[in-house]
Amino acid sequence: MLRLHSRSEESSRPTSDASPVFARAPGKIILAGEHFVVLGAPAVAMAINLYSKVQVTPKNSSGVDVDADIPLRFLAGKTGNPMAPDPRRLLRPLQLAAEATLKHVGSNDRGLHVNVECEIPVAAGLGSSASTTVAIISAVGRFNRIELSRKEIFKLAFVPENFLHGKPSGVDQAVCIYGGMIQFNRPSDVKTFRPKKEPLILVCDTGIHHATRTLVGGVVQKSQRERKDFQNYMVRVREISNGVARALRSGDDEDLGTLMYQNHELLRKIGVSHPKLDHLVETARRAGALGAKLTGAGGGGCIIVLSQSTTARDRISRVLRKEGGTPYKISMDTSGVAWQPA
Ligand code: MEV
Repeated sequence: MLRLHSRSEESSRPTSDASPVFARAPGKIILAGEHFVVLGAPAVAMAINLYSKVQVTPKNSSGVDVDADIPLRFLAGKTGNPMAPDPRRLLRPLQLAAEATLKHVGSNDRGLHVNVECEIPVAAGLGSSASTTVAIISAVGRFNRIELSRKEIFKLAFVPENFLHGKPSGVDQAVCIYGGMIQFNRPSDVKTFRPKKEPLILVCDTGIHHATRTLVGGVVQKSQRERKDFQNYMVRVREISNGVARALRSGDDEDLGTLMYQNHELLRKIGVSHPKLDHLVETARRAGALGAKLTGAGGGGCIIVLSQSTTARDRISRVLRKEGGTPYKISMDTSGVAWQPA
């Protein structure tokens, strides 16, 4: 873990009498439709039981101070990875989330301290930025005695998410806010739904860092150059996402798995996979997985694997580890963003 600090430059003022507030929000996986969702196709996402935890406390000067414990593994300098984000750059969106919320609730001059603990690996496709962002927005709203609606949190989250990712679709923050499963059609059309049973999913990390902004920008440009191909891909992704939502609702794991493999193939075609992602997907297939695909922006990060049983999942997990991946079991979070007095 790396502990990061960012201090505002503001002058001293009396401590506010507001009480500390704690909020947490889950991370996420995308089961279908990433990248194409930015172009207007539907996506299906699930909130997972890895969390960002945020505590907001008053301080005796105006401005927002941020401290953050962030999982180290992808940060520049530790891995020697030139693509890794500058740790200081990770704090700015957190500060932006708090500042945008203060502005929204009409409390710009309030001084507060935001402490973030993030269990979600950074830049791995598991929604670490969206999760911390929505937890901060919820906590800062509540700190000002305002219970922000999910729609308000969703809108505010675009401020830091745009800063970090360019032009994100909004699917990441939506699933971190609502929890459970969502079908995201567009920002104004987000549907939560209940799967017949929770799919048995394994996440497996390649250990390779990716930059969402670059990957998303690349796909948007490619879609403009290769319009005809993308028209066909969009039709196919629409079918896959709708099929995935249907399979989850009816508990049809065979169908779900087949659609996951098909979705991975499309993502590979548009150039957002990585040889290690492809290798792990193929390894999972040979080890008997019902389905596997990259999740999130790709270019590294994680795959998700669907298993038939816990025994199969444990066996697949061992094989993936032997092939250089880092597998871990996850389950569905059903609460979404939540707060309580600290
Ligand atoms: C990232 O988790 C999902 C992408 O589709 C980007 C987005 O929807 O904003 C790659």
